[in-house]
Order: sequence, then structure tokens, then C-alpha cells
Amino acid sequence: MEAQIPAPIGLLAELTHRCPLGCPYCSNPLALDGREGELATAEWKRVLNEAAALGVLQVHLSGGEPLARRDLVEIVSHCAGLGLYTNLITSGIGMNARLARALADAGLDHVQLSIQDADAASADKIAGYNGAFAKKREVAALITAEGFPLTVNAVIHHANAARAGAMVRLALALGARRVEIAHVQYYGWAVPNRAQLMPTRAEAEAAVTEVEELKRELAGQIVIDHVIPDYHARYPKACMGGWGRRTLNITPLGKALPCHAAETIPHLAFWNVRDKSLAEIWQQSPAFAAYRGTAWMNETCRTCERREIDHGGCRCQALALAGDAAATDPVCYKSPHHGRLVEIMALEAGRAEAPYHYRRVPARAPV
Ligand code: SF4
Ligand code: FES
Repeated sequence: MEAQIPAPIGLLAELTHRCPLGCPYCSNPLALDGREGELATAEWKRVLNEAAALGVLQVHLSGGEPLARRDLVEIVSHCAGLGLYTNLITSGIGMNARLARALADAGLDHVQLSIQDADAASADKIAGYNGAFAKKREVAALITAEGFPLTVNAVIHHANAARAGAMVRLALALGARRVEIAHVQYYGWAVPNRAQLMPTRAEAEAAVTEVEELKRELAGQIVIDHVIPDYHARYPKACMGGWGRRTLNITPLGKALPCHAAETIPHLAFWNVRDKSLAEIWQQSPAFAAYRGTAWMNETCRTCERREIDHGGCRCQALALAGDAAATDPVCYKSPHHGRLVEIMALEAGRAEAPYHYRRVPARAPV
């Protein structure tokens, strides 16, 4: 008999790709979904019922910008009724006191607020939105006034690496209990913006040192989750905690993905929650099975003592850099494609002067 696949812990609900910001490292696909065809409220409720029945414990309400959905409070309330822990992942744009109160009343558990920089002008430029920085300060105050635990997250790249420490201090000043400092990952919109975003080794290392020092200095005041830059590491990270092991993503149109960038892998077909139950998808979908476990691994990973630690790294990064999603992640020093990564860094790091390609949702879906 086939071994039972352990239940997922988390579900990332990408409620919409619409977002007022245009961050050039957004993990959403380049072909963003328009509003037409987004899952309706009743469809999300059914998916959430199925998630709870499957054993999911945490729902991350994301996007795009989830505040753009008029039914967000209703969705939160539905999750709370199912006993699901809810985390709102937001840019803050669209939040106001009335909405913050309604979300609290509906049972929202936690808020994760993004910041782009500690310098206002730079933050607004990175976000592609004038006034974003000032608005985020207001929103952080609304969130903490409602008593939500707040996590601030910041993505580090060439334009803001010098202020990694200032962003930690800003998170503390905003009342966050945790701050996540993560170096940019090169998938989604970060691929066409790679040369603009990639820091030099010196910039990345200085940022890592500064944040590690703050971990010691601010211990007891704020928890710092520090995701070090992949490209400068010896081993890759265990992307998604391993493919099809812990979490699943549902796109605005209902496709179930093993990770946010999975649609870049051209030979995978993704089942849709409109056609299949979440349990069927999790247990039987070929896309989830494709890189689960170790059978798919090449010799380098299959015989490596770290195969159950990093699960061979990131499939989407392997595809982007080595042209093969089943290759050893080129971040790994054992990968035969590691040299390509070193070459890209030498060519692109710190050459940032070209304008960003901002992510924008098409005003209307193509007909
Ligand atoms: Fe991880 Fe594969 Fe590298 Fe081993 S060879 S460290 S399993 S990516
Ligand atoms: Fe797809 Fe890492 S983003 S496996």
C-alpha cells in the first residue's frame, strides 16, 4: 500500500494579484491574473473548509494585496470559525481604522506588514508608489492599536542593503514583535530586475553582519528572522520546507501550486480547486508529486547527506539558472551549474542603474 502523504500545515491564499504597489522583486508570476475570474467568496470558503478537513492549521492571506478584496473580513471570519490561524500579509495600502477593527472583530490572528526601506524616498521608489512609506507608519499604528501581533518584513537588495540595520530598528519603532530580513530571491519579477537588484558580495556581507549584530543587541526586544542571501551561501535553503511537504499555494484563479513560482516550470500542469478537492490535489496531483521526496533527485543530491535537510534546494531556481527543474540547485557548491551563478553575480551584482520593471496587473483581462 502506498504511504500516506502527511497533511500540509499551511495554505497560502493568494486572494488577488491586484496591488497598488509595484515592487520589482514580487514573487507573483510575470503574467498576473486580472480581477475577472478570481475565486468568489463562496469558492474560497469551500477551499478553506477543505483545508481545515485536510489538516491545515495556518492560512496566510496574501496576494497581491489582500486588502483589495472586499470580502476579506468575511474570509477571515470563516477561517476563525474553522479554527484556522490567520496571518494577513499586506503592504498596508488600503488599511484604515474601520477595517482594522472589523478584522479584529472577525478574529484575525496576526499581521505581517512589508516595508521597502528605512529611507522614505527610496522606499517609495522601490514600491513604485508615492507616499507608501508614510502610509505604512500609519498602518503599523492602527495594527498595534488593535492588539494584533505585528511582524515587519523587508526584502534586502542593492538599493537598500546599506540600511538593513535601519530597517530592523524601524520595525522595532513601529511596534513589531518580529522582523523578517530576507535577501531577494530571484524568481517572479526579480528575474527581469535581477541586474537592478543584485547586491555586490561586499554589500550583502555587510548587511548580514549588521543584522547578526543587531540580533545580539536587540535580543529580548524584537525577534529577528534573518534569511541570508542564497547566492552567497554554500548550500541552498530548503525551499518551501521541501516540495509538497508542508504547504500549498492557491492562486487568485484557483490553481494549486507547490510554491509561488511553480508556474515557471513549463512541463507541470496544475490542478484547480474549481475541479478537484484540496485532498485530491495534495495527494494525487502530478505537479505535487513531481519533486516530492528524493526519487526525482539526480545522483549529486540523492547520495548527499543533506538531501533530507535542504531537499535539493529550490526547483524554480534550478530551472531559472540551470534550465532544468530537477537539477541540483546551482546555489549548492556541489552543483555542476554553480559556476553559472558565480558568473551571473560577477556580471550583474551592483550594476543597478537601469529603471525597475514594476509589476502591474493589467487593467482588464485579455479578451
Ligand atoms: Fe543539497 Fe543536493 Fe547540494 Fe546535497 S547536493 S547539499 S542535497 S542541493
Ligand atoms: Fe519554487 Fe523554490 S520557489 S521550489
